[in-house]
Amino acid sequence: MQKSERVNFGSKIGAILAAAGSAVGLGNIWRFPYETGNHGGAAFILIYLACVLVLGMPIMMAEFTVGRHSKASTGKAYSVLAPGTHWKWLGYLGVLAGFLILGYYSVVAGWTLEYILEAGTNEFANKRPDDFILAFEAFSQDPVRPLIWLVVFLLLTHFVIVKGVKDGIEKSSKILMPVLFILIILLAVCSLSLPNAEKGLEFLLKPDFSKVTGDVFLGAMGQAFFSLSLGMGCLSTYASYFGKETKLGNTALSVGVIDTFVAVLAGVIIFPAAFSVGIQPDAGPSLIFITLPNVFQQAFSGIPFLAYVFSVLFYVLLALAALTSTISLHEVVTAFLHEEFAFTRGRAAKMVTFGCILIGALSSLSLGVMQKYTLFDKGFFDLLDFVTAKIMLPLGGMLVCIFVGWYLKRSVSYAELTNEGTLKAGFFNVYIFILRFIAPIGIALIFINELGLI
Ligand code: PHE
Repeated sequence: MQKSERVNFGSKIGAILAAAGSAVGLGNIWRFPYETGNHGGAAFILIYLACVLVLGMPIMMAEFTVGRHSKASTGKAYSVLAPGTHWKWLGYLGVLAGFLILGYYSVVAGWTLEYILEAGTNEFANKRPDDFILAFEAFSQDPVRPLIWLVVFLLLTHFVIVKGVKDGIEKSSKILMPVLFILIILLAVCSLSLPNAEKGLEFLLKPDFSKVTGDVFLGAMGQAFFSLSLGMGCLSTYASYFGKETKLGNTALSVGVIDTFVAVLAGVIIFPAAFSVGIQPDAGPSLIFITLPNVFQQAFSGIPFLAYVFSVLFYVLLALAALTSTISLHEVVTAFLHEEFAFTRGRAAKMVTFGCILIGALSSLSLGVMQKYTLFDKGFFDLLDFVTAKIMLPLGGMLVCIFVGWYLKRSVSYAELTNEGTLKAGFFNVYIFILRFIAPIGIALIFINELGLI
């Protein structure tokens, strides 16, 4: 059975980078900037940071506890820790969320492949800002091309999953994450050197609290869960591969800091660039696909070779960052089918990939030919994004808090957090207090507020 096959990540740093690989992805570089743009900028970012600190960090530690203590993927973990109870549904909720996210996430991941090809064939050269808008619209609304990339991306993910994840994930994360950081910092510097960059910075740094509504809170909370890969058991599944020596608190802190750093820097890249070429910050999901090619062209207008190299490199890294996240999503669903229904891993993986191709195809078409089919005023793509990030993940996170805060023995949490050692009592008490009261009540209030009840 799974337990005897269970391999651990080889080192502490490997564990951190694998979890960071899951967390850092399109959520940081694609979703964070457009959510920030849609919700008015700096005030959103402040609320986002508060959500990461107050909700994200304790919930990540709670998920790590569930994973490492049960030594099972999320679909099974609750049956191990709370046999014969309804808690197993929390695991299933996570698996369903993972499946749905993987479906529409792969659409955007596929777009990055198209942009690698376009950058690689020098399509960006000599285009003006408006041309990028038109090109993106034509591409994303095309009924065929994005679907091909979607399938290619899911097959890449599939390939890594069936090859055995741990070696692949850990090794690739160790190389890719540092390269990604360096590139992101370089790009931020380029973007800040563009004309009018200060307007973008102002948008990022000067909070306008008059824009804060209930929606902004829900958006920031959803973004925090999405970006940190929380609320659906991804990180608890990875934690089941953590070795005994891995420190859960330190790992959570590192992942949180890395993830937030990449998101904020993505904002520093995108907003100055958007203002500099006159693109509205609330352009939505297309934002990075329109502004970034522009940054490269403008920042290196005298040196076309550098513009070329940077464009290709950036989209390659974006695709790889997305891949480390799709792998983590796929793993959750595959492991569940494998453990719960005794399908072989290969067969389970095929089912997941096929299912996600269907969901992804519907999401992709909903941006083009199926645009007129909407539910609650949202197309299928937007609906999936809304239901998963803004409902399922926070709900999952809230239930994890209740599970670890109220159901799981305190001694278990204590032993996991301290690696059977000791910890300042104050810190542990604050952690449990947040899990028991602050986080669940906070999430509930944001939900209730959104429903318009307060
Ligand atoms: N955190 C990933 C990102 O930011 C997306 C993700 C969400 C991955 C949920 C796993 C689980 O891109």
